Amino acid sequence: MTTYLAVEGGYPLKGSVGIHGAKNSVLPILAAALLAPGECVIHNCPSLSDVEASLAILRHLGCTARREGEAVVVDASAPIRYDVPDELMREMRSSVIFLGAVLGRMGRARMCAPGGCELGPRPIDLHLAAIRALGGTIAETEEGLLCQGRLHGADIVLSLPSVGATENAMLAAVCADGVTTITNAAREPEIVDLQNFLLALGARVRGAGSSVITIEGNVPLHGGSYTVMGDRIVACTYLAAAAAAGGHVEVTGVDWRHLSTVTAVLTEAGCTVRSEPGRIALTCPKPLNGVRPIRTAPYPGFPTDAQAPVMAALCRGSGCTVFVENMFDSRYRHVDELIRMGADIRVEGRVAVVYGVRRLHGARVRAADLRGGAALVVAALGAEGQSQVEGLHHIDRGYQCLEEDLTALGARIFRRQ
Ligand code: EPZ
Repeated sequence: MTTYLAVEGGYPLKGSVGIHGAKNSVLPILAAALLAPGECVIHNCPSLSDVEASLAILRHLGCTARREGEAVVVDASAPIRYDVPDELMREMRSSVIFLGAVLGRMGRARMCAPGGCELGPRPIDLHLAAIRALGGTIAETEEGLLCQGRLHGADIVLSLPSVGATENAMLAAVCADGVTTITNAAREPEIVDLQNFLLALGARVRGAGSSVITIEGNVPLHGGSYTVMGDRIVACTYLAAAAAAGGHVEVTGVDWRHLSTVTAVLTEAGCTVRSEPGRIALTCPKPLNGVRPIRTAPYPGFPTDAQAPVMAALCRGSGCTVFVENMFDSRYRHVDELIRMGADIRVEGRVAVVYGVRRLHGARVRAADLRGGAALVVAALGAEGQSQVEGLHHIDRGYQCLEEDLTALGARIFRRQ
């Protein structure tokens, strides 16, 4: 029996919605909790399937991990294992983020390579190069990668500002003897959140948010508590939904500076956006117009995770918008589904050209990945008639309560079997 979201389009959105904790911040923070020989309380932790997968990995390693309302409590006083089971690696590609923490805490780590995912190949060569620079040895065995060794400080230079490789290098470096620098580090806000969490555990880390991060390793750590930042991509998704359906929506609990490249595009498309500390309000009085080319890039550039939701909003309106997806090889899988709703989009490799159409119509569509699935919901809200969005397991990885939040804003959306 397929579960799907039934959406009745054509209703403008109106109201205010609080944004839950950031998936891409809490996942590395949960891995970092493994480093502390004590109890960590992680507040504003979203209820997502990727979070559940991370808690399952922590429990497998010998930690206790339990949810207490909006918080998760992890106790890594006595981890006993150093392997991440294949089935958990397959459930969540980003489990590779545990590599640095397990190696750092246990002295060895075993996991299968994450392999490819919906977005195309997910290489981890930069993660492994960072581990080797810190003195880790890596053997490829039939059970997967076996990393081991006593880690020492190093000057790591990343050939590209990979978010995951930066996070893995930070977590391993916290346990290394000596000082580590990471040059060409990713500058995403989630990296800053991870640094702030590590500081709460007593680690000595500085520079997150810039291209050079410095870690003074092997400092005694302790448990602590921390509140995760709001999810900037969920906020972008809700603002794109308001742009697609029309109306007036305010999102709270997120730092407006983290999504200013996206709000700038929505403003250029004809929305009115007012940003202030802790809240962003968007009004969309009329159909959108096309905007200058949107090129995805590492932060602070236009976020690749916002490409699909923003494309979905720009499908209905006038004019033409060129997208260039520079971060992943296969991140246009939502395009065919948007075309089934009447969108006019041409894809040539990394380039997608969106010609705004006057109206979209409802259709039965299927999500192929997390943000592409959210994009189908965005488009359905602005389409005429009924849509059916399947593939909810993708969407549930990154959106805690999509249909509840959108219903509170006036959308007609129901989860059905
Ligand atoms: C993180 O993935 C996010 N995931 C992604 O969000 C996000 O799209 C991405 O960063 C870019 O912002 C989490 O934080 C859990 P990368 P990550 O390493 O770390 C290449 C979502 O929807 N690369 O910065 O995997 C890689 O192939 C998800 O929430 C290498 O070549 O991203 C990609 O082309 C999707 N070798 C580019 O770098 C490596 O060793 C950026 O990847 C690592 C990466």
